[in-house]
Amino acid sequence: MRFWLYSSLFVILAGAASGQQASDSVAPEIGGTGQVATSEAVAEAQARKAEGRPVEAQDWMVVAAHPLAVEAGAEVLAAGGTAADAMVAVQAVLGLVEPQSSGLGGGAFLVWWDAKSGAMTTLDGRETAPLEATPRLFQDDQGQPLQFYDAVVGGRSVGVPGTPALLQEAHERWGARPWAGLFDRAITLAEEGFAVSPRLSASVAGDAERLGRFDATARYFLPEGAPLQPGAQLRNPDYAETLRALATEGARVFYGGEIAEDIAATVQSAPGNPGVLSEVDLALYRVKERAAVCAPYRAYEICGMGPPSSGAVAVGQTLGLLAPFDLAGSGPESPEAWRLLGDASRLAFADRGKFLADTDFVPVPVKGLLEKMYLENRSQLLNGGVALPEAAPGAPEFDHALNWAMDNSIELPSTSHISIVDSQGNALSMTTTVENAFGSRLMVRGFLLNNELTDFSFRSHRDGVPIANRVEPGKRPRSSMAPTIVMAEGRPVLVLGSPGGSRIIPYVSKTLVAVLDWGLDAQAAVDLPHLVNRFGTYDLEAGTAAEAQAEALQAMGYATEARDLTSGLHVIDLRGGRLQGGADPRREGVALGQ
Ligand code: GLY
Repeated sequence: MRFWLYSSLFVILAGAASGQQASDSVAPEIGGTGQVATSEAVAEAQARKAEGRPVEAQDWMVVAAHPLAVEAGAEVLAAGGTAADAMVAVQAVLGLVEPQSSGLGGGAFLVWWDAKSGAMTTLDGRETAPLEATPRLFQDDQGQPLQFYDAVVGGRSVGVPGTPALLQEAHERWGARPWAGLFDRAITLAEEGFAVSPRLSASVAGDAERLGRFDATARYFLPEGAPLQPGAQLRNPDYAETLRALATEGARVFYGGEIAEDIAATVQSAPGNPGVLSEVDLALYRVKERAAVCAPYRAYEICGMGPPSSGAVAVGQTLGLLAPFDLAGSGPESPEAWRLLGDASRLAFADRGKFLADTDFVPVPVKGLLEKMYLENRSQLLNGGVALPEAAPGAPEFDHALNWAMDNSIELPSTSHISIVDSQGNALSMTTTVENAFGSRLMVRGFLLNNELTDFSFRSHRDGVPIANRVEPGKRPRSSMAPTIVMAEGRPVLVLGSPGGSRIIPYVSKTLVAVLDWGLDAQAAVDLPHLVNRFGTYDLEAGTAAEAQAEALQAMGYATEARDLTSGLHVIDLRGGRLQGGADPRREGVALGQ
């Protein structure tokens, strides 16, 4: 039985057929209705999504947050490009049509499974704290944490962007198509214009005051002082010019020369809240290859991004804590299943708050946190049948005698996820972000700069004990992004991930249970209403069947709260000799395949 039906979220699609010419103006040009039809394939994919049916394909598949970005990736894949090629095209378009979530001024984590070698690896394109950043970056003169948005908006929160370097690194390792051509679609859209989506328009309207604080940002998002309307044709010639430079000269144009000068100057002169990022910081930036972190669950290996992301460890812990329980026998309508999921998640979050940070700066007991005996012992806490009165961090095997205090970093949802399988069988899972919606709100050469540094703890110590995720120069802030590839018998069987701040971890964990234990197809799994518990209160997705669980969960001892839970889950299921895709109905993305 279907657990729910989303009310129709069918998005009015808009293509890029305005035929307008580029101008030197930094302001967007808006005109016409902008409501032109996109490809038949996208229209069909959208119809399937609206009906709750997955998209199926044999050869390749791409799922991302905007139809124009998905089309750009599909074009590359249909021409024999690899998943890495397609990702570059998708990211270039996302930075234009979904700038509130990701772009050149942000960072990303990428998980890659290589069909030829059978090897899995990850690339860390996380933003990095400038050399002049100190643990007191987000504290006032008395050492007290700043208010969140006082820290976010302006230059202080901007880390060295990693996305351009990550695109190039992935392409150099695994690309097959010429680099420059991968930007063609995005450049055309930026020059000729694209229709503003309802989601972008609503995001601008909701953030107009902050966007309005900086001239370049205000000119672009608030032309003539008013937020962009849905369907308005928007052009971004500055972004087109930046992409052309990236296409012809590679990522080095971003980390040195005029673009780097502009980024550093914009950060350092941000009115009211300048930052310390410099051209030296940009020149020093490097993508880091890191081993994938994998954890067993039933017959599967759940693989993803280790530190500085907490994603793979926390998802692996949540599932490891659930392993002794028969979830398949209960199903998504069982309050008992949600009790187990919710408290497993709380225990994982307790460990995350104490131990997880950038391993290049602090020792993190990754092995100990995922160790079988540790999780088996800790899962006994879930035997009580009622809500855990408290979820405290555990004591994993630790080869360093260090004590950390609990973190208090805040992460609000923005971000975007890309899942791709190519015709050679390679699988790519990448979560990409500018952190808060519209990042720092600072705009340079047609793209927004991130506010990723606010993923660090604002406090550096608690009761004299240092916090692992405190700010340090050159360090990467802890993330919750959980790009995931699930393996079985040495082959990838699921590719998935989501935006959603620290709720990414429960969104991904729950979707894995929905597919692997409850047997839902890719679309039904992402459609399933969210019930999320990180710190005690059970968040129930407002306006869905999740709210019907409130009474039973309250009887078990939970406080509950109905709220919007805007995941952006993008799933590809490779089992059964075909590709099956699901795109989150809470956002505008689609799955396309052939
Ligand atoms: N800024 C979102 C994350 O990294 O988790």
